[in-house]
Amino acid sequence: NKVVILNHPLIDHKMAKIRDKRTGTKEFRESVSEVGGLITYEITRDFKTKPKTIETPICEMIVHELEKQVVIVPILRAGLGMVDGIHNIIPTAKIGHIGLYRDEETLQPQVYYSKFPKDIKDSVVLVVDPMLATAGSACKAIDILKEHGATDIRYVGLVGCPEGIDRLQKEHPNVSIYLAALDTHLDENGYIVPGLGDCGDRLFG
Ligand code: PRP
Repeated sequence: NKVVILNHPLIDHKMAKIRDKRTGTKEFRESVSEVGGLITYEITRDFKTKPKTIETPICEMIVHELEKQVVIVPILRAGLGMVDGIHNIIPTAKIGHIGLYRDEETLQPQVYYSKFPKDIKDSVVLVVDPMLATAGSACKAIDILKEHGATDIRYVGLVGCPEGIDRLQKEHPNVSIYLAALDTHLDENGYIVPGLGDCGDRLFG
């Protein structure tokens, strides 16, 4: 597996908006979605394609389409903010949902909802959540996906920290991690520093 911190001027530019506390809901939401799309361009770089014969208006030719179905699985709530941007890039993707919240005292993830499309076993699954803090939520979501038969899973986030990356790599060594930025540490409340605050609240109020 690999850890990829996207290094791209456009992503950095949008992350600047997302991190700034003065950024309002509309611009925040748009930027989170757009960065989701830009990261996806990078994630899909090694996707396998399969050949298919079609006819252009001029002649027959072999074209290449994505081999596997893609399933986007946002972790509710904040993960929802990235879905549109990713879906714009891969319109054929299906969408599953996992509802988790962190118990504010124990920081343990509590599952309140999960629903997936049927063919998750043979799909590439993108677990989407803007914040990789303790990684409790990501690990739990991936546990659930594996119980449902998913094997090809990738984690897509905006901001992570060393603590979260270490734990996710230990618990799920076969899951590659894609992030727009890597921050320094977690504070005593489990918030990423410098981070971007509570992403769910900034998206949904
Ligand atoms: C936030 C965030 C992640 C989780 C990250 O969600 O969106 O899901 O915390 O923390 P972890 O890596 O320590 O598990 P939150 O619990 O605030 O729920 P919300 O998205 O519904 O606001």
